[in-house]
Amino acid sequence: MSASKFWSSFYEIYEALPRQGPGDRQSTERALRLLPPLARGHRILDIGCGAGAQTIDLARATEASIVAIDNHQPFVSRLQTRAAELGLADRITAQAGDMNDLHFPDGSFDVIWCEGAIFIIGFAKGLTAWRRLIAPGGHLVVSELCWLRADRPADLEAFFKAEGADIAGMADRRKDIVDRGYRLVGDFVLPAVGWWDNYYVPLAATLERFRVTHAGDQEALDVAARSEHEIDLYRTYPEHFGYGFFVMQRA
Ligand SMILES: C[S@@+](CC[C@H](N)C(=O)[O-])C[C@H]1O[C@@H](n2cnc3c(N)ncnc32)[C@H](O)[C@@H]1O
Repeated sequence: MSASKFWSSFYEIYEALPRQGPGDRQSTERALRLLPPLARGHRILDIGCGAGAQTIDLARATEASIVAIDNHQPFVSRLQTRAAELGLADRITAQAGDMNDLHFPDGSFDVIWCEGAIFIIGFAKGLTAWRRLIAPGGHLVVSELCWLRADRPADLEAFFKAEGADIAGMADRRKDIVDRGYRLVGDFVLPAVGWWDNYYVPLAATLERFRVTHAGDQEALDVAARSEHEIDLYRTYPEHFGYGFFVMQRA
């Protein structure tokens, strides 16, 4: 399959969703409660914001100013529109940007937030690269794919391997956090509701429509099948893998 065909199908599917990865408002707020209160004048950088579901939740739950970046302009535009509709445009600046190449001066942010997107740069690499952007004593909050048990079903392991997924145990993540110059403030596992309600349920409905509109287009249907397979794996193995939410402080 050509890369452009893959990405056009992928974005058609994921642009239709309320959020582009597993997560929910309750978990965003739970992670926020592990931080000192974020008042007016505090600065958050939300990396890989997608259409901005967690950006909006952060803006509602704090008084901080938020710079939200994503490399897909349609997500950025959607967040700009939504922030304006909600009267939050004065505190949310959404802009196109590449998480691998961030040009903000050192110490620009009190908090860096990244839900479901650090896998793109890589967990350990992201921790290292973004550390300089955090003000001394500031925090980094990420959610990332983790093994939740030591026994790992072979088909699940094969799927992640074929996907090139950056998956590791929670304990390995905690070690990376300390090794990369952070203090772990706390962590928890995203509840199953965060996978289903805002992500897999709308994704399954979108895939059903996509299959109808792309009937006969085998390449597009292959992209849909890959996402369907992922949903099946989570339905089968919800206790084996999940998203760890990690709240850490720049040491
Ligand atoms: C799994 S989604 C998570 C989106 C959002 N945080 C959420 O939880 O709904 C990953 C996001 O990272 C964005 N992305 C991919 N590569 C990127 C890059 N190099 N720099 C910035 N964003 C990127 C994608 O466009 C997508 O919106």
